[in-house]
Amino acid sequence: MHIFITGIAGFLGSHLAERCLNLNHKVSGCDNLVGGDLDNINGLKINFHNANCENLDEMTKIMKGVDVVCHAAAYAHEGLSNVSPNLICQNNVVGSTSVFTAAIRNNVKRIVFCSSMARYGKIEAPFRETQNPKPVDPYGVSKLAAENILKILSSTYNFEYNIAVPHNIIGTKQKYDDAFRNVASIMINLILQNRKPIIYGDGNQKRCFSDIKDCIVCLEKLLFDKNITSETVNIGPDEEFITINELFEKISNKLQFNKGADYHKSRPNEVFKALCSSDKARDLLDYKTSVSLDKSLDLMIEYIREKGPKKFEYNYDIEIENEEIIPKTWKNKIF
Ligand SMILES: NC(=O)c1ccc[n+]([C@@H]2O[C@H](COP(=O)([O-])OP(=O)(O)OC[C@H]3O[C@@H](n4cnc5c(N)ncnc54)[C@H](O)[C@@H]3O)[C@@H](O)[C@H]2O)c1
Repeated sequence: MHIFITGIAGFLGSHLAERCLNLNHKVSGCDNLVGGDLDNINGLKINFHNANCENLDEMTKIMKGVDVVCHAAAYAHEGLSNVSPNLICQNNVVGSTSVFTAAIRNNVKRIVFCSSMARYGKIEAPFRETQNPKPVDPYGVSKLAAENILKILSSTYNFEYNIAVPHNIIGTKQKYDDAFRNVASIMINLILQNRKPIIYGDGNQKRCFSDIKDCIVCLEKLLFDKNITSETVNIGPDEEFITINELFEKISNKLQFNKGADYHKSRPNEVFKALCSSDKARDLLDYKTSVSLDKSLDLMIEYIREKGPKKFEYNYDIEIENEEIIPKTWKNKIF
């Protein structure tokens, strides 16, 4: 099969590319390198295009001969979408629609879209695929909009689709110098610089982190299993819930850091209990957690140590400079 991966130089995209090559698929992909890193795909035998998903004609050209598309490109920034909604919606809605349209023009057989648990919003946890989603920020709304556009296009043009709903994935190759996202890797990067991590709110927000390896196995089925189509599936564990305070404690212990954390005002619209059920993934995709949170954090620490701690980047424009809403960490570039 010839698979095309958008966002291929990113965290998930690069791991997926590696896995598809190991399965002897032909791999092509694109990335605009705003959030990704060419190092992530260094040495992989892929056709790489430095292209923006929003450019429909270019996407149409570079998807020639492709069988399956995994649309993993996104500015994966839920928090940022509250202060830069235009940027995020343009990327998630226009960019995704352009990818789907280019794929249809090329008679692609199947499209898998990487959505986000942000689609659920603040409904009762653990979030199940059968629940009615009620996203509470532009990021969640735009991911859900892209899902709905994909479903409509699939029934109009008769191609297969699946929707993956990953949650809080961690692991090697994740960007750890982006001030706007990736809490575990930000904490590790700061502590390795002997700086105190920042926690928003009281730190009792609940999360469930998934290792990238366990996520990729599920994506593989959504992409290539003939019997699995038109499905929306949560991807990740539901057995190791942890608060942000507990996560901080775990990472501090591993790095023997004893300076504590700085607490800042909660970010707008943050979901307190963001937990997904894995029942459907267990039934449909044989999901199993093979990498524990501890093991995953150890691998990340080793990876960040090896690459070296980095100064934080603020690569995205803040569109609404409202003092009440924008976190000080971003406004004053505190990280
Ligand atoms: N990492 C997580 O915890 C998580 C959780 C839920 C959902 N997801 C979804 O999984 C997907 C991959 O996330 P990730 O963590 O690998 O993020 P990432 O930032 O590491 O990778 C995304 C890649 O897409 C690229 N990109 C963004 N917009 C683009 C555009 N218009 N054209 C071309 N390339 C573009 C970026 O440069 C980046 O390399 C995203 O759709 C994200 O919403 C991730």
